[in-house]
Amino acid sequence: MSTARTVLVTGGNRGIGFAIAEEFVAAGHRVAVTARSGEGPVGSLTVRADVTDATSVDTAFTEVEAALGPVEVVVANAGITRDTLLMRMSEDDFTSVIDTNLSGAFRVVKRASKGMLKARFGRVVLISSVVGLYGSAGQVNYSASKSGLVGLARSVTRELGSRGITANVVAPGFIETEMTAVLPEPQQAEYKRTIPAGRFATPSEVARVVTWIAGDDAGYISGAVIPVDGGLGMGH
Ligand SMILES: NC(=O)c1ccc[n+]([C@@H]2O[C@H](COP(=O)([O-])OP(=O)(O)OC[C@H]3O[C@@H](n4cnc5c(N)ncnc54)[C@H](OP(=O)(O)O)[C@@H]3O)[C@@H](O)[C@H]2O)c1
Repeated sequence: MSTARTVLVTGGNRGIGFAIAEEFVAAGHRVAVTARSGEGPVGSLTVRADVTDATSVDTAFTEVEAALGPVEVVVANAGITRDTLLMRMSEDDFTSVIDTNLSGAFRVVKRASKGMLKARFGRVVLISSVVGLYGSAGQVNYSASKSGLVGLARSVTRELGSRGITANVVAPGFIETEMTAVLPEPQQAEYKRTIPAGRFATPSEVARVVTWIAGDDAGYISGAVIPVDGGLGMGH
C-alpha cells in the first residue's frame, strides 16, 4: 500500500470525482472533497467550494488543512461542458467553460502548491479528456480547456519538479456519468463504434488510475498525459 496522504478532490459529490474520492478512501488515505451541493463518499470530508472563485477555493483548503493536515495530493476534477458549434458558441459559452475547467484548475493547483512546497512533496492530478488532444466538433471551448491542462501540468512539472512534486494529466474517454448520460442514445451507439474497446468506462476505472499516479510507485512520472479511453485517442 502507498503511504497514507491527505487528498483533496474537487467536484467529489458525483461522477468521476466521487469515484476518485471513494477509491482514495478505500486505499486508506485522508480524503476531502469539494462540492457546491451534495456530499462526497462515506469516509470523506466534504467542504463547500466553487472553483471559479479563488477565495472560496482558499477557504476550502484552509478547512481541509485544519481537519486533515496539509494537502499532499490534489485532484482537479471539477468540470463543465457547454457544447455547441463554433458559429453558435457565445463568448460566455467559451469563457465560462475555460473559467471552470482551466482557470479553476489553476486556482486549485496554485493554492495547493503552498503546502506542497513547504512539505517538499506533492502529487497534482488534472482530469482532462481525450478530446483535449483529439479535438471534438461542438466542443471548441471544452477541448481548449482540457488541452490547456496539459500545458499547466507540464509547466508545473518544470517549475516544481525538483521539490518532490509531480503533476500529471489523466485523460478519460467516454465514462458512464451524468455528463455522458445526457447524450442521445444513437450518438452514444455511434461513439461506441469508434472506441476500440467498444464500450464506455466506469468511473472507477478512471479512479484507479488516479490513485495509482498519486501513489508511491509513480513518483518518477511527471508531465505525463495518461489516457483512460479504451484506445479512442491513440497517438493524440
Ligand atoms: N464523463 C465523461 O465521459 C468524461 C470524459 C472525459 C473527461 N471528463 C472530465 O471528468 C471530470 C468529471 O466529470 P464527470 O463526468 O464526473 O462530470 P459530472 O458528473 O458532470 O460532475 C462534474 C463535477 O464538477 C463539479 N463542478 C462543476 N463546476 C464546478 C465549479 N464551478 N466549482 C466546483 N465544482 C464544480 C460538479 O459539482 P456540482 O454537482 O455542484 O455541479 C460535479 O461535482 C470533468 O472535468 C470532466 O470534464 C469526463
